[in-house]
Amino acid sequence: MHEFERVIDVSEVPDPGKTLVEVEGEMVALFHVNGQWYALDDVCTHDGGPLADGELRDYRIACPRHGAKFDIRTGAALTMPAIRPTRSHEVKIGDGGVWVKLRDVPMADGLAAHAVGSPATTLPPSPAPASSANPSETANTQATTGQGSTGPLCEDTVRETLKEVKDPELFVNIVDLGLIYDVSIAPGTTDEAKHALTINMTMTSPACPAGPQLIADTKRVLSQRSDVESVEVRIVMDPPWTPDRMTEAARDQLGIF
Ligand code: FES
Repeated sequence: MHEFERVIDVSEVPDPGKTLVEVEGEMVALFHVNGQWYALDDVCTHDGGPLADGELRDYRIACPRHGAKFDIRTGAALTMPAIRPTRSHEVKIGDGGVWVKLRDVPMADGLAAHAVGSPATTLPPSPAPASSANPSETANTQATTGQGSTGPLCEDTVRETLKEVKDPELFVNIVDLGLIYDVSIAPGTTDEAKHALTINMTMTSPACPAGPQLIADTKRVLSQRSDVESVEVRIVMDPPWTPDRMTEAARDQLGIF
């Protein structure tokens, strides 16, 4: 059973503002917006990014690692690549201090009653949660035909073919995500008409759960070309991927500002 714990003086955080506090040994991101206080786990549910270090805009906090946004009032994931809520906690004001009481599970839905003195009905509406992504796009997440580009083999046609491979969490192709660093094309070893491809690609995070699938799909769509003899995929984590590598189309699709 958790209890309220005083974490800071009210005067320590401006409005709007945020800070990082420790409650029962856990790191909690504390937000002060429009006279109200909110608390979330300092953990992005995509890959553990520190939310307290992100950019706070109105009731949204953006993860500094890959740009996922969360509603600070509920912990709801608003944009990819996060699809699960982070835990929100109860907050109250008393004796000039801010008090936080941990919750055991995320508040997945609705506007929280934990905003101090802030009835849910007075809060602006939240954008649709990330988990409500268009199901028809979900159905297109698998690489399929390998016929994305039928032109002569060159870097452009390789990249065009690779647009058939989509990240299963983000629903954006790996080229527009900026995951393809280099494409090299060498003569085939057994057939002059064919080529050996080496693809240097990265992942949005070192522990990306979609990694094996993306590698397999990359090999599959390229191997289906009649002018390809072999495909080697090398995973490169330096430089690390950042949202800056995405095309405008991908940023629009993910709702990243
Ligand atoms: S760790 Fe937060 S968006 Fe990737």
